[in-house]
Amino acid sequence: MEKLETWWKNAVGYIIYPESFKDSNGDGIGDLNGITSKLDYLKDLGVNLLWICPIFKSPMDDNGYDVSDYYQINPEYGTNADFDNLIKQAHARGIHILIDFVLNHTSDQHAWFQKALKDPNSEERDYYFFRKGKKVGDKLLPPTNWKGFFATSAWEQVPGSDDFYMHIFSKSMPDVNWANPKLREQYYQIARYYLDHGVDGFRLDAVAHLAKDLSFEDSKAPADSNGLVYDTGKFSNRPELFDYLHLLKDNVFSHYDCLTVGEAGGNISPEQSLLMADRRNGSINMVFNFDTVWNNGAYGSIDKSDEEIKTDVISLKDNFMRWYGVCHKKADMPVYWCNHDHPRVLSQYGSIAYRNESAKMLLTTLLFLYGTPFIYNGDEIGMSNVNYTALEDFHSDVGNVNAVKELRGQGYPDEQILHYLNRVSRINARTPMQWDDSANAGFSPKGSINKVNDNYQDGVNVLDEMKDPYSILNFYQYAIGIRKDPIINDQVLHGEFTLVDHNHPDVFAYMHDGAEKIMVISNFRPYQVYFTFYFDIKDILLHNYEGVIISDHVFTLRPFESFLLKVR
Ligand code: GLC
Ligand code: CA
Repeated sequence: MEKLETWWKNAVGYIIYPESFKDSNGDGIGDLNGITSKLDYLKDLGVNLLWICPIFKSPMDDNGYDVSDYYQINPEYGTNADFDNLIKQAHARGIHILIDFVLNHTSDQHAWFQKALKDPNSEERDYYFFRKGKKVGDKLLPPTNWKGFFATSAWEQVPGSDDFYMHIFSKSMPDVNWANPKLREQYYQIARYYLDHGVDGFRLDAVAHLAKDLSFEDSKAPADSNGLVYDTGKFSNRPELFDYLHLLKDNVFSHYDCLTVGEAGGNISPEQSLLMADRRNGSINMVFNFDTVWNNGAYGSIDKSDEEIKTDVISLKDNFMRWYGVCHKKADMPVYWCNHDHPRVLSQYGSIAYRNESAKMLLTTLLFLYGTPFIYNGDEIGMSNVNYTALEDFHSDVGNVNAVKELRGQGYPDEQILHYLNRVSRINARTPMQWDDSANAGFSPKGSINKVNDNYQDGVNVLDEMKDPYSILNFYQYAIGIRKDPIINDQVLHGEFTLVDHNHPDVFAYMHDGAEKIMVISNFRPYQVYFTFYFDIKDILLHNYEGVIISDHVFTLRPFESFLLKVR
């Protein structure tokens, strides 16, 4: 039976990157007790659903997405008892917890993989994809020409053998074989273990890639200079994936009152997402898509100048509308600007020259879209991209390290690569959370793996913003309160959503019909623009400027000016 209203229907989500959120014991690494110590802060902010990036034991080659033991909390983050305490304390404050469940791959240090490597006849060997390399003349090539997500071949040779294993991310993260029922059973057990320990659900990492093309044939799409082909069709959103997710649901999720949100990359379409998240016959509750990220041309933009990076507001609106159109009657949807895999939204769609205005504008635009909003930690104080001066500063992201090698190989000078990484690197989102203006922004006396952004000394920190009534932080708190108001929430989720002046190239404006119409109008530009408006304003619920400039049905919108209005 479909449940119409569940606990997460009025959730405002918040994404925590544990390594850089708060260090409680002074070793320079964020940890679970650090998160627990900030639960009151999060409660005051108004968020009530946390997605915590992976916390399992891990060699940290990909910052926890390489899991070596699912049943142990990463000792750098604390103990299993600390985790139980975090859950208990969060629940006591009405905050639910999703953990990041990495189920497409393990670490190469996981006991399964170690056994599989050592003994080709072991049961664990078939938990992974081992295949013979291709002999071409006297060369041994990988079994296929597939390229992975981290700028390398999707295969790594087993030392001393002509076997290779498959990894669509780093070579230290071998993909697991969901076609094997024993492997699947292992993951059911892990999921049950955490649900039994009180977690409220999962963010399902890289879930789009669980099913591979098991014929393991070369891709016919165009190859790069190394003869590799980036063809997500070989390992993303393939038909068997939807069966695997149904099995997960039948065996695990359906026995718990839990929320499951899949990360679906690999160019998933909204129609395909319904195969996962349709309320009537889907297997998980929601699907994160990537279509509203990078709508400024920054992805792969090494050859572009800063002037060429500009938010394409029409594409942003179209992408949202396309997902809304297909999904709203049938499925729930998360909405977000960015997460730990992207640069900071303020530097992408906003502007550090208009930090305060653009951060507030971005929040207003996001919060009232159809769906469950997820805020990324630090966005509530207007954290922005780094301005690092050396390529070594990006050492903690294996994807960046590989990209530097690849780009150098293509002849790019270091200076250009540096400029590019400052613009697009995931590290931008992984610098220490800025709590106050003491050393290292109050994250840890010891510094951290990623250098802190110096702007914590210029007021971009929680403590300073708490004191300022006009701060981004106080605006967030107020705006989230409005979003959770039951009448507004109902209207956002059930009122008919329409774009207003869809073709306006600079303004993102939309409306929800209902007993009272609510409307968002947001200028995405660092300059003044005009917006024609034929409604009567009944109330201004949110606004990031003083005063309103309107005459003859035309709004003059100042840089990044934004409203939430009640209109007639
Ligand atoms: C997801 C995660 C990302 C990670 C990758 C491999 O995309 O969000 O951080 O590197 O999966 O697990
Ligand atoms: Ca610590």
